[in-house]
Amino acid sequence: MTLKIACIGAGYVGGPTMAMIAHKCKDIEVTVLDINEERIAAWNSDKLPIYEPGLEEVVFACRGKTLFFSTECEKKVAEADIVFISVNTPTKTRGVGAGYAADMTYWEGAARMIAKVSHSPKIIVEKSTVPVKTAQAVERVLSNNVLNDGARFDILSNPEFLAEGTAIKDLENPDRVIIGGRQTPSGLKAIQTLKDVYAQWVPEEQILTSNLWSSELAKLAANAFLAQRISSINSISALCEKTGADVSEIAKCIGADSRIGPKFLNASVGFGGSCFQKDILNMVYICKGLGLEEIARYWESVVTINNLQKRRFVDIVISSLFNTVRGKKIAILGFAFKKDTGDTRETPAIDVCNGLLDEGADLAVYDPQVTEERMKTDLSLDKFEWDHPYTQRKAKEVEDHIECCDSVYKACEGAHAVCILTEWDEFKTLDLKKIYDSMVKPAFIFDGRNVVDGKHAKEVGFVFYGLGKPLDPFLTDPSSPCSP
Ligand code: UDX
Ligand code: UDX
Repeated sequence: MTLKIACIGAGYVGGPTMAMIAHKCKDIEVTVLDINEERIAAWNSDKLPIYEPGLEEVVFACRGKTLFFSTECEKKVAEADIVFISVNTPTKTRGVGAGYAADMTYWEGAARMIAKVSHSPKIIVEKSTVPVKTAQAVERVLSNNVLNDGARFDILSNPEFLAEGTAIKDLENPDRVIIGGRQTPSGLKAIQTLKDVYAQWVPEEQILTSNLWSSELAKLAANAFLAQRISSINSISALCEKTGADVSEIAKCIGADSRIGPKFLNASVGFGGSCFQKDILNMVYICKGLGLEEIARYWESVVTINNLQKRRFVDIVISSLFNTVRGKKIAILGFAFKKDTGDTRETPAIDVCNGLLDEGADLAVYDPQVTEERMKTDLSLDKFEWDHPYTQRKAKEVEDHIECCDSVYKACEGAHAVCILTEWDEFKTLDLKKIYDSMVKPAFIFDGRNVVDGKHAKEVGFVFYGLGKPLDPFLTDPSSPCSP
C-alpha cells in the first residue's frame, strides 16, 4: 500500500518541504493542503505562489504524479497515514503574551480538525516552529476529541531548518534532520516510520532522533543562536565605525578560528524573515513564564540590537544628508528580507523606509522580486509599537511618497542618496558612473549590505557609507559628540 502524507499549510515551509519528499520518494503520495484557495490555485498553476530557486523544477517534475495540492483538507487528512502541520504561528498581537508569545490558534484548529475526521491511526508531525511542549497540548486536544473508532495518534516533532532562497538546496542536502518523539514503543515506531521517509535521500547518520521536548527546543535554540551571531557582528559594526576598524576584516579574522567558523558573520542593516525575531520573542516569553528573567533579558537583547541597527542606519542617512531628507528623493535598492526571495516578512527595509518617510523623504524603491502591492501594504500596515516605533501612515501617504520602479537606474535618477537594503547579486555589478551622473550632487550611497565596492564608488565621486567600515569624513556620525 502506498504511504499517504498530507500537509496542512502550503506556505514557504509546507510547499517546498512536501515537494522535496514527493520528488525523492516515488512510493509516497503527498498532498499539500491549505484553506487559502488562491494559494492552492497558484501551486497548481504555472506561476507558483512563492519564489525559490529550483522549486519550479521540483514541483513541475512530480505534480500530478506523487505531489498534489488541494483545499479538500478534511478528506485528505482522513486518508493520510502521516499528517504534517505547517500552519503559521505568528506572534500574538493581543491578549496575554501579546508581542512575545506564539499565536497557536491555527495549530489548535488543525489538531481539532484531525481529531474530528480521523478513522485510522496517524502520525502527526509538528513542522511549524512551536513553543516547547506544544506536542503535549496537541496530544491532549487529539485524545480528548477522538470521535471515531480506530483513530489513535503519535505526535512527532520534526522542525524545519530550510532558509529561504536556498530552500531546495537545504532540503536536498540538509546538515541534519531532527525527529523527536515519545520514547514509548509506539512513539519509537513512529520515529522510525518518519526516519524511513527521510532515509530515502538523507544519510542515516544525519538523521538525529531525540525526545519531543529537545526537538522542539532545538529549533528555537538554533534560530536564537543564528540571530545572536548577526546581532553580535552588527554590534561590532557600530564599534568599527567609531574606531576606523573594518567589520569585514574582523569577520574574516574571527571566522578563521575553527571554533567560531566563517558563516553568518555578514554585518547588515538588520536581520529579518519570519522566524528569527518571532522565535526569540517566543523563547523570551517561555523563559519569563518559567521565572528565568535574566535568561529572558539575555535573549531579548538580540532583538534590541537588531532594532538599534536599523535605527542607526536611518540616523546616519538623515544626518549625512545635512540633517534633512524632507522632499528629497531617496532610492531604496532591495526590499526583500534577503536575496533570492520575494518574502518581506520582518524585512529591515520596512523599518528603514518608515524611518525615512517619517522625516518626509520621497522613496523610489526597486526590488527584483517584491511586488508594488506588497511593498505598499507593508508600509501602510499597523505594527506594534514595541516592534516598530514609527508613526503608522495611511495608504494615501504611502501612495504619495513611494514610487515603485522597475529598474535600479530609474529608482536612482534624480535621487540624493541610494540605500542598499538587500544583497541582491545584481547590486554587485551596477554601473555606478551611470547612476552617479543621473543623481543630485553630492551623491551618497549607503550600503547596508556591503555589496558595493566602496573604493570604486568613491573614485566615481560618491560619498560612500559601508556598514561597519571606516566612516568617510564627509559623513556625519549622528552619535559622535561633535555631530551637529
Ligand atoms: C510558518 C511559520 O511562519 C513558521 O514559523 C513555521 O515554522 C512554519 O509555518 P510559512 O510556511 O513560512 O511558515 O508560513 P506561511 O507561508 O504563512 O504558510 C502557512 C499556510 O498555512 C498559509 O498558506 C495558510 O493559509 C495556511 N493555513 C493556516 C491553513 O491552511 N490552515 C489554517 O488553519 C491556518
Ligand atoms: C532562518 C534559518 O536560517 C533557518 O534555518 C530557519 O529554518 C528559518 O529561519 P531564513 O530566515 O529563511 O532562515 O534566512 P537566513 O538566511 O537565516 O537569514 C535571516 C536574516 O538574517 C536575513 O535578513 C539575512 O539577510 C540576515 N543575515 C544572515 C545577516 O544579516 N547576516 C548574515 O551573516 C546572515
